[in-house]
Amino acid sequence: MAHIIDGKTSAASVTDTVAEAAAVLQREAGMQPGLAVVIVGNNPASHSYVNAKSRMAKQCGFNSMQYSLPEETTQDELEQLVAKLNADPAVHGILVQLPLPKHLNSEPVIQSILPQKDVDGLNVVNAGKVASGDLASGLVSCTPAGAMVLLRNLHGPDLSGLNAVVIGRSNLFGKPMALLLLAANATVTMAHSRTRDLAGVCRQADILVAAVGMPFMVKADWVKPGATVVDVGINRIEAPEKGDGKFRIVGDVAFDECTEVAGAITPVPGGVGPMTIAMLMANTVVAAYRSVGRPIPRF
Ligand code: GUN
Repeated sequence: MAHIIDGKTSAASVTDTVAEAAAVLQREAGMQPGLAVVIVGNNPASHSYVNAKSRMAKQCGFNSMQYSLPEETTQDELEQLVAKLNADPAVHGILVQLPLPKHLNSEPVIQSILPQKDVDGLNVVNAGKVASGDLASGLVSCTPAGAMVLLRNLHGPDLSGLNAVVIGRSNLFGKPMALLLLAANATVTMAHSRTRDLAGVCRQADILVAAVGMPFMVKADWVKPGATVVDVGINRIEAPEKGDGKFRIVGDVAFDECTEVAGAITPVPGGVGPMTIAMLMANTVVAAYRSVGRPIPRF
């Protein structure tokens, strides 16, 4: 049986450090880290993620600002809000929850966030720093940063000699994840929907990372015996066993069968998810420290 990686405990250790760093900033510089989270429309899953982010920001001692905009918000209105938050010195981090409603174009909105406030790490400046191996001076996308903390806790900081396969090539996760694994000296394959013999490619992986958005896609016979499996999927599926109209959250990995083969595996929920929120808090406190020229805490 695989070791079940406990994301909640690792996340709590990060958020404890963040809360302490926020308290120091308050005490010594009289300032409070400010995180503005913007959500547009009525997607229930997005609302529950955003509420969790705002709640954790408060727990960390931040000034937590949530902007819930109606579905019919225009591109111009959304960009004006980002411009206002960019100009507000009390705001150190800005996150625009994705996906946006279909009539909105997310890319210009994301790129208009100032790089130093881009706690999602999606601005081309931050993404470019990760791509060029500068992991220190920008802000790294939260979910891959969190997955790397879990891998570092398990394997140490140097993944030399290990084969890593990332399934999924999004800007939000797959691309930065592959780059972070590469920076840690893993031999990295980026697999995706057009990859030939995906199962065979995955079976080569000492570290297998799945981020595709397909419930239970990764099966036991895709997993090399003893491999570490990181499940980034958050899929809402119907759960009639919990009652009519109820849902439950599952990952991209067929967890029950893969635990028989893997050496270690992240559960969903309770694996990478809590780490994403913890790293968002870490990025926000880092942005606040940088804004006053203080040396940043390490996570
Ligand atoms: N939607 C799902 N995950 C994320 C995330 O990490 N950041 C943003 N902005 N939107 C998301």
